[in-house]
Amino acid sequence: MQYRNCGNSGLKLPLLSVGLWHNFGGSKGMSSESKKILFTSFDAGITHFDLANNYGPPYGSAEANFGKVMQSDFKKYRDEMIISSKAGYDMWDGPYGEWGSKKHVIASCDQSLKRMKIDYVDIFYSHRFDPNTPLEETADALESIYRSGKALYIGISSYSANKTREMIKILNSRGIKLFIHQPSYSMINRWIEKDLTKTLTKNGVGCIAFSPLAQGFLSNKYLKGIPRGTRVSENSSFSKNLITENNLKIINNLNSIAKKRNQSLSQLALAWVLNNKAVTSALIGVRTVAQLKDNLAALNNLKFTKDEIKKIDKNAKEGNINLWAPSSSY
Ligand SMILES: NC(=O)c1ccc[n+]([C@@H]2O[C@H](COP(=O)([O-])OP(=O)(O)OC[C@H]3O[C@@H](n4cnc5c(N)ncnc54)[C@H](OP(=O)(O)O)[C@@H]3O)[C@@H](O)[C@H]2O)c1
Repeated sequence: MQYRNCGNSGLKLPLLSVGLWHNFGGSKGMSSESKKILFTSFDAGITHFDLANNYGPPYGSAEANFGKVMQSDFKKYRDEMIISSKAGYDMWDGPYGEWGSKKHVIASCDQSLKRMKIDYVDIFYSHRFDPNTPLEETADALESIYRSGKALYIGISSYSANKTREMIKILNSRGIKLFIHQPSYSMINRWIEKDLTKTLTKNGVGCIAFSPLAQGFLSNKYLKGIPRGTRVSENSSFSKNLITENNLKIINNLNSIAKKRNQSLSQLALAWVLNNKAVTSALIGVRTVAQLKDNLAALNNLKFTKDEIKKIDKNAKEGNINLWAPSSSY
């Protein structure tokens, strides 16, 4: 594994990190394949696992299942691991179960720690921008979590460049550094290139890019239809309506470029995200150990020629697949 310093901090993150949004939930515990994914990841040097309060389904179950594995297997490696969680999306009933109020964010962090059976998370995020809560209040919550030692580093996710700058300023005035931003980013979702990456680099903030495979769309599997056992076939978080003729054309063209580099499309997609120097880590999801291994092999070829970049730029156009755009529209 190769590692990059997160922004101008001393903390290194692996080039690939693994997220537990899909495939790690369930009220009967984690599947044996998912456990194997965690162990294979860690053995390969993937030290960073990303969670959130409501990952499941049901909500909370990914953290609870991860907590069981922490107890049974990972406990002795806690100091070798970077574990993150987040609060902001809907989690429990009533007005305090979501968004950016101090009440929600602090209660949610406490619940996450209990479920994961750990004393602290390495990174705690405000999961989305809340237009109805003053940013000062969300910062209050993050500050409290940070000062109480429940999180070592503070992050935000899917905030616009503007709101990121505001948050950096508020935290700075309290003597706290914004450590990391977690935006969506892939070859067909390039919104961060407009001004967010500049803001992050200028302020020494790290960037962990989520859904670098566009939820699996940037892989070989959708080139010829919709196979079973995929997010699209299961009517999950990637709608088949997003597989437009235009998007199919894009992935087929990108696949031709990948082939010339002796890479799979997903390997090209990961290498390309990591070629953006503002990006610290690419945060992937995987359903199987085989997918994980395929993705790890992307690290064998991270270099691009100018000509390749030019060709990719010509084809890697906006696919309108960014489900998180509302949060960054403020
Ligand atoms: N901050 C936020 O708001 C936010 C939002 C979303 C995600 N995240 C974080 O980012 C993590 C990753 O998100 P994501 O799961 O959408 O990322 P992704 O890596 O873009 O997509 C993962 C999916 O792609 C497919 N896949 C992965 N490797 C493959 C391969 N080698 N060949 C073919 N298909 C492959 C699998 O789909 P199938 O299951 O269809 O096989 C897998 O479930 C999440 O777990 C979470 O931690 C954060």
